[in-house]
Amino acid sequence: MDLQHHHIELFAQTFALCGLRAGDSAAVLSEAATRPELPQLAMLGLQRLGLRPFQLVMPGQPVQGVLPLRSTGASLALTGMPAAVAALAGCSFVADCTVEGLMHAAELPQILVGGARVLYVSHEHPETLERCAPQAEDEAPVRDAMRRLKSAREMTVSSAAGTALTIGLTGARVGGVWGFTTRPGTLSHWPGGLVLAFPAAGAVHGTLVLDQGDVNLGFKRYLESPVRLRIADDRVVAIDGDGLDAELMRSHYAAWDAVDGGASRAVSHIGWGLNRRARWEAMAYHDKVDCNGTELRAFAGNFLYSTGANEAAGRHTPGHFDLPMRGCTVALDGVTVVRDGVLA
Ligand SMILES: [Fe+2]
Repeated sequence: MDLQHHHIELFAQTFALCGLRAGDSAAVLSEAATRPELPQLAMLGLQRLGLRPFQLVMPGQPVQGVLPLRSTGASLALTGMPAAVAALAGCSFVADCTVEGLMHAAELPQILVGGARVLYVSHEHPETLERCAPQAEDEAPVRDAMRRLKSAREMTVSSAAGTALTIGLTGARVGGVWGFTTRPGTLSHWPGGLVLAFPAAGAVHGTLVLDQGDVNLGFKRYLESPVRLRIADDRVVAIDGDGLDAELMRSHYAAWDAVDGGASRAVSHIGWGLNRRARWEAMAYHDKVDCNGTELRAFAGNFLYSTGANEAAGRHTPGHFDLPMRGCTVALDGVTVVRDGVLA
């Protein structure tokens, strides 16, 4: 375990942004596969703030589904564990150190309803958390982007590589994350700095071209060859490309088709990154086990397209891809918010 003293202060500072005070009740949730530094640093950081946190360590779960589940944001650690859920729901703060995070876990609403603030500490090497440490001023730009997204009727996305996508936003569920949360009954994640929407059913049509250097976070892999996705009525209906990247995507969707009837091909969420400290190239420096890729979802100016579960559209599946893309132009009702991959 690579426990660094200065990371204790880092965790304390981030938790302090959540408005914690001595006497608040706090839990640190982890699981068998969690990298051990993270819950240790969370415990020490909370204690530095004068709290007396406790730890919950969940056992591993049997394999679910046909392929590895990665990049889902839907931890299964609490599945079938009502006593653990109740303990977390009774806290005013939960440091979530599960591998995938509780963002889309089925048990999250039961935890939030009690008034807990949940901060998912993304399952990264602590260096990544350090470089992308949340700051108080990160909140305003994300709130501004959420307002724009909520009031828009349509998003259009284009790129020199050939992307031409139209996304209806009526009925979409909009969210935003800036890396900390002070409001009871809400969740945030660290690193933060992105805004997203889960479109209603039948909202997405067009062509999405993943270019060299764009990222598939299901595979934790930079694309080395372009992949052209034709999207009709929310679903990826054609995957063109000669390289391994296209072949891997075809294989993934075909495997899930047999299980979920094609739900994994449909849009999950769309949005863009706002974090200027997050770096596109960071994943190239890490072994896969040291990187969960939240930084790549957040780097400023990326367009994030995702396939898989979408409650706003009534679709459920564990098969999930997050696909951060560079060089896109994103507009809301004709007003550009990202131009050629740079925040407008
Ligand atoms: Fe996602």
